[in-house]
Amino acid sequence: MRIFSGIQPTGRKHLGNYIGAIRQYVEGQDRGDAIYCIVDLHAITVAYDPAELRDRLYDTTAILLAAGLDPQRCILFRQADVKEHTELAWLLANVTAYGDLTRMHQFKEKSAEQREFVSAGLFQYPVLQAADVLAYRTDEVPVGEDQKQHIEVMRGIAERFNARFGETFVVPSHRIPEVGARIMDLQSPERKMSTTGATELGTVFVLDEPDRVVKKFKSAVTDSGTEIVRRPDKPGISNLIEILAVVRDTTPDAVEKEYADAGGYAGFKEDVGRAVADYLAPVRERFAELRPNEAGLERILATGAEKARAISSETVTLARRRMGVGPPDG
Ligand code: TYM
Repeated sequence: MRIFSGIQPTGRKHLGNYIGAIRQYVEGQDRGDAIYCIVDLHAITVAYDPAELRDRLYDTTAILLAAGLDPQRCILFRQADVKEHTELAWLLANVTAYGDLTRMHQFKEKSAEQREFVSAGLFQYPVLQAADVLAYRTDEVPVGEDQKQHIEVMRGIAERFNARFGETFVVPSHRIPEVGARIMDLQSPERKMSTTGATELGTVFVLDEPDRVVKKFKSAVTDSGTEIVRRPDKPGISNLIEILAVVRDTTPDAVEKEYADAGGYAGFKEDVGRAVADYLAPVRERFAELRPNEAGLERILATGAEKARAISSETVTLARRRMGVGPPDG
């Protein structure tokens, strides 16, 4: 089974990225033929600084390695190193319905955040994402819940291409975790945790110091009750229950049982904070060892790109041929 996922090298990676996606990437290495891509070409669709983009790319690479990605057991590469992605994105744009792109939640949200300029790249973002996945004839895409709509669109693109030009692409499925698919902001638990638009205190970064992590959880916004249960009117507590279940590798039900007689939130919030701090500490330590060696990170990415190119170039050649562009044997 082929597994593929992508992550943006923007901002600082947070607990939502870690729980929703990164932990699934690590586990994917044992389940299939896993390919992970750091999508720098997606990161340039909104306002950004070129020098900072490079720094964040190394940060993201080192975080993924620190989390447990092993270049011997997966392919880890940088999107812009494999030109097949951009070429395929153009081909696929011609079997993508304009109307589908206008319905994308992420485009609506991100274009509203851009004060000065909304790029056509931002609008085309899901087409490039479809190219990322389809180029590798991927079966399964591990992502958080917010990417569901993008996966639906790429399935439609693959189906339309296959119907019009003949079987070429595998129609991929998403793999969204049962618990932790949508980690919420600790200060505004009705909003998902994210790098943009959220509060610093409500966002737990993978590289936050342990004391800072605990402080953020202690200040988490909850309701005025005392019961530790998941309920729609208790988004803050529900979020903390899911987070604790994931980092302790247990179930939300077990967490609720354990805290049934807690009689208040303070101790619970502190326990979640300490558990998350312990969960992230080894990642933070390994990151500190790996991050300074930029040449080493570049070598890992270059090796990954070579392997990725060998796979994706075959698919793109076939797509070109089927579409009748370029020389007949090209
Ligand atoms: P990005 O970098 O924004 O997010 C990376 C992953 O983190 C997940 N995620 C969350 N999961 C749970 N709770 C949250 N609060 C939370 N916030 C983010 C995202 O669902 C994602 O899985 N478009 C992708 C990047 C991409 C991609 C791809 C993904 C480009 N090409 C191909 C899969 C396949 C994105 O926005 O990632």
